[in-house]
Amino acid sequence: MIDIRELGYFVAQAESLKGWQDYAEQVLGMMTADAPEGGLYVKMDERPFRMLIVEGSENGYLASGWELASEDAFAAATAELDEKGVAWEAGDAALCNQRGVQQLAILRDPAGNRHELYWGHRSDFQPFVSPQGVPRFVTGEMGLGHTVLPAPNFDETRDFLKNVLGFGLSDIMNHKPAPDADPLRIHFMHCNNARHHSLAIAEFPVPSGCVHVMVEVDSMSQVGRAHDRREAHNVKLSATLGEHLNDKMTSFYMKTPSGFDLEYGYGGLQVDWDEHSAFEFTRVSLWGHDFTVGQQ
Ligand SMILES: [Fe+2]
Repeated sequence: MIDIRELGYFVAQAESLKGWQDYAEQVLGMMTADAPEGGLYVKMDERPFRMLIVEGSENGYLASGWELASEDAFAAATAELDEKGVAWEAGDAALCNQRGVQQLAILRDPAGNRHELYWGHRSDFQPFVSPQGVPRFVTGEMGLGHTVLPAPNFDETRDFLKNVLGFGLSDIMNHKPAPDADPLRIHFMHCNNARHHSLAIAEFPVPSGCVHVMVEVDSMSQVGRAHDRREAHNVKLSATLGEHLNDKMTSFYMKTPSGFDLEYGYGGLQVDWDEHSAFEFTRVSLWGHDFTVGQQ
């Protein structure tokens, strides 16, 4: 089984790198730098980047970078892809240099989401110094946060993520968009760390290629301060403040310059998977998270 340690990075595309730079520095409270081979690094911990933004004609989400522990783990993973007949492509030297990794394997799940398996991230271990005074983002061995990807062909995508990429099921939400509508499934999945979910898939298409990504701060004050900065910079709110039922994250949602949403939260659940029983929950949040504000 492929042993993914964490969501190491994501790659997004935007028409304007300047727009992302301003958003990252002024709203998210993160640092930015030019990426090798082009693009913008967005830094939120001691690693050089956790978000890579590349310039392109369309806004959207391009890829999720999944970290493996070692060269041996990478070799075992690609051997397993071959064994299971999954097409993959090795990242060339320029791509590895831009992602700051030793080796990279690129593949797509049945819904078309691009995944990049890699090992050996490169880092100068420079401290994170937020331009907005954010003390820290909760990352480390739990990765940058989580990503929620579209999976209209739900069953085959779920099976692929479970049986090929090795994600474990955390829990299940059957979301009813309207009281009389058919439920749409959202499955929350974890890899080999304590974060409640590093990945979720949702049974509907999303034009930007991503439902949302989540980043976590270490106090409620920092969520509130980010909310103030969002307001000051006229960034569109996608969901009001609320507390999720399953991972206990207290967060709000806003638009990114790449068209998908970003959840900015505090207090996410950390799970001992040996003690956890998966369950189905029937409402998204204990309180708040009004997504209708994003549709106005
Ligand atoms: Fe989330």
